[in-house]
Amino acid sequence: MNQPGEPKNGKGFLCLGIESSCDETAAAVVEGGRRVLSNVISSQIEIHKAYGGVVPEIASRHHLANVNPVIDQALSEAGVSFSDIDLIGVTNGPGLIGALLIGTATAKAMAYALDIPLMGVHHIRGHICANYIAHPSLKPPFVCLIVSGGHTAIALVEDYVHYRILGQTRDDAAGEAYDKVARVLGLGYPGGPLLDRLAKQGDPERIFFKRVYLEPDSYDFSFSGTKTGVLNYINSARQKGESFRQEDVAAGFQAAVVEVLTEKTIRAARAMGQKRVALAGGVAANSCLRASLERACLEKGLELYVPPMELCTDNGAMIACAAYYEYIHHVPPADLTLDAYPVMPLGR
Ligand code: KG4
Ligand code: ZN
Repeated sequence: MNQPGEPKNGKGFLCLGIESSCDETAAAVVEGGRRVLSNVISSQIEIHKAYGGVVPEIASRHHLANVNPVIDQALSEAGVSFSDIDLIGVTNGPGLIGALLIGTATAKAMAYALDIPLMGVHHIRGHICANYIAHPSLKPPFVCLIVSGGHTAIALVEDYVHYRILGQTRDDAAGEAYDKVARVLGLGYPGGPLLDRLAKQGDPERIFFKRVYLEPDSYDFSFSGTKTGVLNYINSARQKGESFRQEDVAAGFQAAVVEVLTEKTIRAARAMGQKRVALAGGVAANSCLRASLERACLEKGLELYVPPMELCTDNGAMIACAAYYEYIHHVPPADLTLDAYPVMPLGR
């Protein structure tokens, strides 16, 4: 077995990243941690749309059907074969257990057959690492706001391996709140991007929704109160037969969520003495959040790192990147007992 970071066959060090934690089956080949040679994503959004959300059993079945073709396509688009791969990284949590098991079992079988090391990757660490791919100059430490369908947290990324959680949500994740509000507005699935689009036509100041800051020095979040405020507003208007502009509800809700996310992230960066702020996770695609953080960072003299849209969604490249850095920084590779976990702590 080769040494950490040492390439095989005279090519750059190649990592195959596999992701199957939710409704995307994805695989990528990444050279030297940051150079993406291929990044193939097979999305199940159209399939789950009919149910208004991800149906775990259906997701598992589609991962099973798609995982090998997606990996084959990733290798072929990268112009490499299995024998060129030096390392495999696979998301082994958190996520839907059945979905995770497909990626994990596939990765274990491949690593065993090829006799190459295997790294189990935390899905959210992968999202954070998407920033290394997008920004070649970015190095830790930095403060990262993580906003996805299942997570909302502020982390101090101390180095390539150590993450300190400064705060996290005490109830709903930001993406979850977006999706629930979008569902009540009848926008469809996935709700976040649809609500984002609708909010652009609304007035964020016409309807005020509660901003929940918790204790003055806390970096934790709570979105359930804001979400319930929106649901109550809609239900009460409907009961009274009063009309409201959906655009204004969307814009008002978004303004409340984004204001708190921005304030806490900037405060955390300054308290930690960090000049660099990064954004990660599916909700990193949100236009209002991106604009708000950009404004706040500019005002406070901080550098903002945001992944491009294609790296905000779940993908294999971010998993390969995370696996590479953990491997070269001597995190022990997994063996064939590697398991999948629906819940997994982000901080080590
Ligand atoms: O990271 P991700 O793909 O899945 C998890 O790891 O959880 O994030 C998915 C979440 C969903 O809740 C989706 O509605 C939300 O990200 N999302 C957005 C936007 N794009 C995706 N939320 C708000 N605005 C967006 N533009
Ligand atoms: Zn994700």
